[in-house]
Amino acid sequence: MNPAVAPGLPAATTTGADARDNVRALRSSQIREVANAGLGVADVLPFWFGESDRATPAFICQAATAALGQGATFYSHNLGIAPLREALASYVTRLHGPTAVDHVAVTSSGVSALMLATQLVAGAGDRVVAVTPLWPNLVEIPKILGAEVQTVGLRFGAQGWSLDVDQLLAALTPGTRLLLLNSPNNPTGWVMSRDDQRTVLDHCRRLGIWIIADEVYERLSYVQGDEIAPSFLDLASRDERVICVNSFSKAWLMTGWRLGWIVAPAALMDDLGKLIEYNTSCSPVFVQQAGIAALTQGEAFVQQLVGDLRASRDHLVRALSTLPGVQVKAPPGAMYLFFSLPGAGQSLALCKTLVREAGLGLAPGSAFGPEGEGFVRWCYACDPARLDAGVARLQRYLASR
Ligand SMILES: Cc1ncc(COP(=O)(O)O)c(C=O)c1O
Repeated sequence: MNPAVAPGLPAATTTGADARDNVRALRSSQIREVANAGLGVADVLPFWFGESDRATPAFICQAATAALGQGATFYSHNLGIAPLREALASYVTRLHGPTAVDHVAVTSSGVSALMLATQLVAGAGDRVVAVTPLWPNLVEIPKILGAEVQTVGLRFGAQGWSLDVDQLLAALTPGTRLLLLNSPNNPTGWVMSRDDQRTVLDHCRRLGIWIIADEVYERLSYVQGDEIAPSFLDLASRDERVICVNSFSKAWLMTGWRLGWIVAPAALMDDLGKLIEYNTSCSPVFVQQAGIAALTQGEAFVQQLVGDLRASRDHLVRALSTLPGVQVKAPPGAMYLFFSLPGAGQSLALCKTLVREAGLGLAPGSAFGPEGEGFVRWCYACDPARLDAGVARLQRYLASR
């Protein structure tokens, strides 16, 4: 016992048990766990994180350095600088129909946008439904706030991953507060069809359920005729209970800049501004200036990137398909292959072995929810030669078993 503390009072030094129960109960990242297992392995080819191996394009970096040169080092408006909000409103209007500036807010990353959007509409004791497999942040954020999360699993079949809409509707009961959806989906690459979006939106309208749609991969769609993935913004009016979250990270290769945005009912903007004040206060102005360059000068870049990603996806699918026991399908969106292979029934253990023994860094399917077990995720946003080197390592590993 600490002698400096009177009996009955808490000990002077804290233990891990002092953090809030909700926080202690959060899942830690299994991708990090795999990365940690590889510490000390000199030569690892990492395909486990969701980012490209290419740096942000020069025209975006130049906009940031020019802004810094002009002294853009101060706090700014909670909801973002006016020129970026205007550029976002025009961009969203071009993609999804009329969207006014007062429906748009700038955030310090997509993940911060998800946290803010969830804080806006869900809290302790609320029932939240999420469609999984899913990037873990979406499922854990409501839990930080004390909400109860129920998951509805996508199914894997001959056509790849699909949603049983009736099963989702059955889970969206009266009293459910919020539905969390991510399409195009990380990790599966599943893209929700417009018909399914319409059915789910109608159901949520009837029951007054909020939808947070994470559409950060909307530009990474490989479906002909749907080069921009179907969005809830195409169907819902801007003042309904729909909040769309987006990011500069994926389409403009800006993961390290931490810049995202929210499209939400104008009536929520004052409250969103307060939440931004108490979370981050604002996004850095020079980063916002870079965002303007991305939106106003970046269209050719995005299209080129999507073409390169499609080629990488097809290249990796072809190469993996030749390996014994590997089952893989080309997904319609995002930048990952989520595939099964021998040993993936215990995907965390397999990925740790792969990193230690084969120098191959993949993400375990179990990191994305129970439906993900049996699969591993490979981010293909990189040079095809690197993909080939990774496939050669996997081939050697499988041959040695
Ligand atoms: C589904 C999904 N949503 C949101 C994000 C957040 O992106 P960022 O915080 O880099 O903007 C990611 C990043 O990987 C993601 O996969």
